[in-house]
Amino acid sequence: MKAAVLTKFGAIENAFEIKEVPNPILKEGQVMIKTEGFGLNFADIMAIQGDYKDCPPLPAIIGYDVVGEIVETKGDCGSLKVGDRVTAMTRFGGYAQLVASENLACAKIKKDYAVGKAMAFTTQYSTAYYCFNEVQNLHKGDKVLIHAAAGGVGTALVQMALDRGCEIFGTCGSQEKIEYLKSLGVHHPINYRTQDFYEEVKKINGDYGLDAVFDAVGGSSAKKGFKLLGSGGNLVLFGASSITGANIIGKLKMAAGFGMYHPLGFVMTSKAMIGVNMLRIGDDRPLVLKRCLEDVVTQVEENRLDPTVSKIFKIDELTEALNYLRSRKSIGKVSVLW
Ligand SMILES: NC(=O)c1ccc[n+]([C@@H]2O[C@H](COP(=O)([O-])OP(=O)(O)OC[C@H]3O[C@@H](n4cnc5c(N)ncnc54)[C@H](OP(=O)(O)O)[C@@H]3O)[C@@H](O)[C@H]2O)c1
Repeated sequence: MKAAVLTKFGAIENAFEIKEVPNPILKEGQVMIKTEGFGLNFADIMAIQGDYKDCPPLPAIIGYDVVGEIVETKGDCGSLKVGDRVTAMTRFGGYAQLVASENLACAKIKKDYAVGKAMAFTTQYSTAYYCFNEVQNLHKGDKVLIHAAAGGVGTALVQMALDRGCEIFGTCGSQEKIEYLKSLGVHHPINYRTQDFYEEVKKINGDYGLDAVFDAVGGSSAKKGFKLLGSGGNLVLFGASSITGANIIGKLKMAAGFGMYHPLGFVMTSKAMIGVNMLRIGDDRPLVLKRCLEDVVTQVEENRLDPTVSKIFKIDELTEALNYLRSRKSIGKVSVLW
């Protein structure tokens, strides 16, 4: 099979070799998927830059999302069978024509469902689903702040919050994204390049604290978000994109920007900070991942969620695709097809 193999950390242009590699070998409970392509995630950019701790040693096949057809199964794979079209969260190995996936990390999809949308179900929508539905319980009228709201996970969180009837503050970095957020129905879109999101939320919301903040930017963004929470509020922290491209001083500043916390402070203020890593959930709680994925598919079928396709590239445009995601211009999901 062919795969895009990450051979060098650093510049995207020199990072990959697209070449023949041995087919994966199935383990019990796994399915082999002949992929139509793979989805890109911001974590791929961090991995290429050498900033992603979970990335396997090089040479490595990265990538978390694939869509394709099951061509082989081994052992008990539940209801999955050869010929099913699935989307799968692969936890690396996704940038390849054949992928061995745990059956619990797959969800069946319709044969004619748009590939670019199905790519978003796994990492981005299931992470958003877990952050929104599994680690807390939000209600109609609750006020939520979503950072990078026009991105892949951000769009998913916005749609879930709208579905629940929450009031949404959404940040993004361009006027084009502001228009996109308005079109989704975000009540208070904030361009953080022209407005301080902390001051803006305070201005609109007064002293009534937020019920939830979803933050994958990290550093001082998380510190400010935590200050915006009201009693009973949660800050769900699921990334640290502000580390991107930073040198060691920048990384230290980012780490210090989070601020210092003591557990008793959480008790006294009745506020929480919740960390989420879907790789850990997928590895250690596969049934939870399965539940998230299946609920995402169900909610898409019920027209409650509808992933936005940013762009679909061909495999020989992999560099352009990754540069596009890194440029922060993408809105929704970016994918690459074989
Ligand atoms: N913990 C988990 O399991 C998990 C799973 C999936 C994703 N994530 C995290 O969720 C975040 C979103 O992932 P995604 O794949 O959906 O990407 P994405 O949101 O589609 O793209 C990344 C966006 O982040 C925003 N951003 C804010 N600060 C940034 C910075 N310093 N450098 C670069 N971009 C910055 C940019 O939008 P604006 O400029 O408009 O803000 C950019 O477009 C990432 O941090 C990712 O690592 C975590």
